[in-house]
Amino acid sequence: MAESIFPADFLWGGAIAANQAEGAYLEGGKGITTVDMIPHGKDRMAVKLGVEKRFALRDDEFYPSHGAIDFYHRYKEDIALMAEMGFTVFRTSIAWSRIFPNGDEQQPNAAGIAFYRDLFSECKKHGIEPLVTLCHFDVPMHLVREYGSWRSRKMVDFFTHYARTCFEAFDGLVKYWLTFNEINIMLHSPFSGAGLVFEKDDNKEQVKYQAAHHELVASALATKIAHEVNPENQVGCMLAGGNFYPYSCKPEDVWAALEKDRENLFFIDVQARGAYPSYARRLFKEKGIVVEMEPGDSEILKDTVDFVSFSYYASRCASADMNDNNSNAANIVKSLKNPYIEASEWGWGIDPLGLRITMNMMYDRYQKPLFLVENGLGAKDVVNEQGEINDDYRISYLREHIKAMGEAIEDGIPVMGYTSWGCIDLVSASTGEMSKRYGFVYVDRDDQGNGTLARTRKKSFHWYKKVIASNGMDLD
Ligand code: BG6
Repeated sequence: MAESIFPADFLWGGAIAANQAEGAYLEGGKGITTVDMIPHGKDRMAVKLGVEKRFALRDDEFYPSHGAIDFYHRYKEDIALMAEMGFTVFRTSIAWSRIFPNGDEQQPNAAGIAFYRDLFSECKKHGIEPLVTLCHFDVPMHLVREYGSWRSRKMVDFFTHYARTCFEAFDGLVKYWLTFNEINIMLHSPFSGAGLVFEKDDNKEQVKYQAAHHELVASALATKIAHEVNPENQVGCMLAGGNFYPYSCKPEDVWAALEKDRENLFFIDVQARGAYPSYARRLFKEKGIVVEMEPGDSEILKDTVDFVSFSYYASRCASADMNDNNSNAANIVKSLKNPYIEASEWGWGIDPLGLRITMNMMYDRYQKPLFLVENGLGAKDVVNEQGEINDDYRISYLREHIKAMGEAIEDGIPVMGYTSWGCIDLVSASTGEMSKRYGFVYVDRDDQGNGTLARTRKKSFHWYKKVIASNGMDLD
């Protein structure tokens, strides 16, 4: 076989998040979080978007995060399956409320620390590097109720205290860190993204960008602390990625696409370049936003990340007359339907070349190593009479995207690794469904929470094992 285009130390693996996999939502002293309040069913979107204030659980609703796939109790079995595929990296998140159940305590919860020490040790035992997100959407509810979540500057202290606690407690076990998962999603899904709920008279844009400022300051401080605790630590930001294409070459459409890209890249511009981008002034003026900053904030923001991580599921499309009626959401971000590409069952455009385009744009802009930490196809799987899951559609999606990532490497981009999303089936963040599956490993559980939770290797499991063993060269 020809020599691999992937570097010899390229990290191969998969990704999950605490709130979509662990379950055990009140065990081990864990506090309740924003994601625990988001029901499955008709009210899901209103709660996720922060339009419907939901501060108490209801008896007549089902909350998928409460049980999820019970990774909390089954992680040893699950990590062994990842090791069997040859993973060298495993991305998960720490549930903030397992470490600080309310979020504003001084002393951490010992049971939470013990759980993650065991989990990361288990990964290391199998030669797997943990890649750990500090906040993957789940803010402790106490912080939402008491402080309005990221509306409040106090969150910077709570988060940095939490971050330091994690860097110290897991020093020697974890060296790859991400501060906030898909930080730009707070603009599109404010409650699930950042614990924000709105009052009738709020200027929503003002609330969101003030919260964004707090997160950006907290992220820069956490980055600095990580390096102080251990200079070997490498910290990344994380973008919900996917370039916008102009719907046509009409200049107004090209401009609309550029503005849409900036909306998302705004966060990474700060985290990777260390200052607010030049276009922010006009953006804030036109939206009537005045971001309150403290003296010293611009110094703090200069602590930039070591690498830029991102998710990529689909490219996006924008025009000057895009509105709520002619667009739909792919990975929460609104987009026009691109007539040149196919889409998944959930309407997410399938566009491997878009990945190469996105990676080139990001490296041109940031000149920092990239890490593709989420990519995959959400699809309905069928277990046949022999008990097999023949997920050729998933293999084909992943194959084409891995090829495109290889092309980006050939284009000269340093890429640290690849963690496909939902390497074991888990709860969908957007819909709350279990039936929107991404995994190499099937989990017997349905959308209402019924099932044995048994794990089964899919066809893609055996395929991915070969991909890893050949360092990305055997994709057949
Ligand atoms: C990203 C998130 O938005 O996409 C994950 O970081 C999420 O949490 C993933 O699960 C896929 O989206 P969905 O809605 O299909 O679960």
